[in-house]
Amino acid sequence: MCGIVGYIGNKKAEPILLNGLSRLEYRGYDSAGIATIENTAIKTIKNKGRVAELASMPNIDKLNGTIGIGHTRWATHGRPSSENSHPHMDNSNKFAVVHNGIIENYADLRDFLKSHNYFFLSETDTEVIPNLIHFHYINSKFEGEKRFLKAVIDTCKMLKGSFALEIICSDFPDNMVVVRKDSPLVIGKGKDECYISSDIPAILSFTKDFYLLNNFEYAYISRNNIKFFENDLKEFNKEINNITWDAGAAEKDGYPDFMLKEINEQPKSIRETIGSRISLNKPTVLDEIDLDKKYLSSINKICIVACGTAMHAGLAGKYIFEAICEIPAEVEAASEFRYRNPIINEKTLCIFITQSGETADTIAALNLAKSKGAKTIAISNVIGSSITREADYTLYTHAGPEIAVASTKAYTSQIVLLAILAINFAEKLGINSEKIAELKDDILKLPSQIEEVLKDTSKIKEFANKIYKEKDVFYIGRGIDYTVALEGSLKLKEISYVHSEAYPSGELKHGAIALIENGVTLVSILTNRLLVEKSISNIQEVVTRGAKTFIVTNQDFDNKFDVIIRVPKTNTLIAPVLSVIPLQLLAYYISKEKGLDVDKPRNLAKSVTVE
Ligand code: F6R
Repeated sequence: MCGIVGYIGNKKAEPILLNGLSRLEYRGYDSAGIATIENTAIKTIKNKGRVAELASMPNIDKLNGTIGIGHTRWATHGRPSSENSHPHMDNSNKFAVVHNGIIENYADLRDFLKSHNYFFLSETDTEVIPNLIHFHYINSKFEGEKRFLKAVIDTCKMLKGSFALEIICSDFPDNMVVVRKDSPLVIGKGKDECYISSDIPAILSFTKDFYLLNNFEYAYISRNNIKFFENDLKEFNKEINNITWDAGAAEKDGYPDFMLKEINEQPKSIRETIGSRISLNKPTVLDEIDLDKKYLSSINKICIVACGTAMHAGLAGKYIFEAICEIPAEVEAASEFRYRNPIINEKTLCIFITQSGETADTIAALNLAKSKGAKTIAISNVIGSSITREADYTLYTHAGPEIAVASTKAYTSQIVLLAILAINFAEKLGINSEKIAELKDDILKLPSQIEEVLKDTSKIKEFANKIYKEKDVFYIGRGIDYTVALEGSLKLKEISYVHSEAYPSGELKHGAIALIENGVTLVSILTNRLLVEKSISNIQEVVTRGAKTFIVTNQDFDNKFDVIIRVPKTNTLIAPVLSVIPLQLLAYYISKEKGLDVDKPRNLAKSVTVE
């Protein structure tokens, strides 16, 4: 939800922090701030508004420290304001803290601190943290760096909730302490300098060597050294990871927005997802998963759990698993799954899909499934993300960094990966060999077919120009096309702020058709040969009542509709990968027509690490 960045080295920290924050802005953008240490005093500048506004504040470039922390906020406790912005300091201005996450017991901690004469300047949950650190620091029996570190450890032991923290202290102008619990944080190591961030792409241009912290691992960072400690102050060694992502992947590359770039990257991202996992006439290669025929024959169902767009990919996955593996599959929103008592056991295979790997509800759902004895597979795009440390198995989509808040390339990669997984299971089960061979062939054609879809987008742009002032848009589809309707509708809502609803085509006449009147827009997806006639009848019912129609199809029919976008023919099970692209573009162009910030829609953040 929020983004945090840190630097310690020999360069001026301020421009590095601002650069990192601008790359992390997709995680929250209602206020921003930085703090550095100069001559053993902490200096902080923060404000309501975006990072660009922070960067233009008077005197920001006068911050000369070579150690610093920064934060871009997505408000949870307390409205966006200068007081509620991070960094937060303790009452004596000795410690400055930036925090991503939520402290659930902050009210009790405030009372505790007030009883020790601490006062508060903000409405945030975070402000208890620097004050608790101060409390433990002044009551410590330790000296030197252990005193600083132990005060942080004792504080973290009192916190309930989630946190990624960067802490600087005016008594230790050459050190920073960082720690995480259920919120992301990575440490990049350069030569005589370290970079800290909520995600890898934000600091990829500075280093490719990263430490990935686990929960309750503390890093005591100096310019040329990082020491790792556990909760009991025991020091341990940590492996460094070399990341192969290309720094350019986190840049706009000449596109006006990340979203358009990411939509256009889909031929590449799908190629990366496929990688060497499938080839014709050979079994799929998924070394990460060692589930065998005996286990796969024993499972009673597959549960797919995720949120938002990832859940829509999961809905497509249900059709794929049922058709190819002949195993019943259910799909549920993680926020619902985790608060009921789902009937799952050791015979259930649970698949959790999350681009970021940090979504709080999805991680909690996974832990619930594990506690009931189910085997768990995580599908994520982010190497080393939190969910990958909890799941029995992890499959990476390898779609490259997705920066725009609205998910596009991650969604198509998730569907392709689910199809590859289903093929792998069916091969092990020894079933549906013909269907599998055809599906593999079709999967391998997808990247070049996506290129075709992206070649000419003028009709989509024109239609967006015609309808961008509309208040309501309806999306319909049958079977797997309905799952694409849901995704297209979500894209429109989130980046264009247009109300829209998605219905199974046959359901419209059971109520919602009452809303159709002259001029309403209907978007319809039609990729299943067996359902063409029925679907066209459903569209006609709406056209008769005056609707404008935008149809995405790979079928041949003569009926005339306002706009027909033809996508290449493919297996119905993976058709969403192609048919969603015109819908992503429609939402994109409508948002542009309305002059909105496509990459950072209001009220949203990329990584939802709170419930
Ligand atoms: C919509 C979107 C969200 C995410 C959802 C889950 O464009 O991006 O609906 O799909 O918040 O996020 P992850 O996949 O990171 O768990």
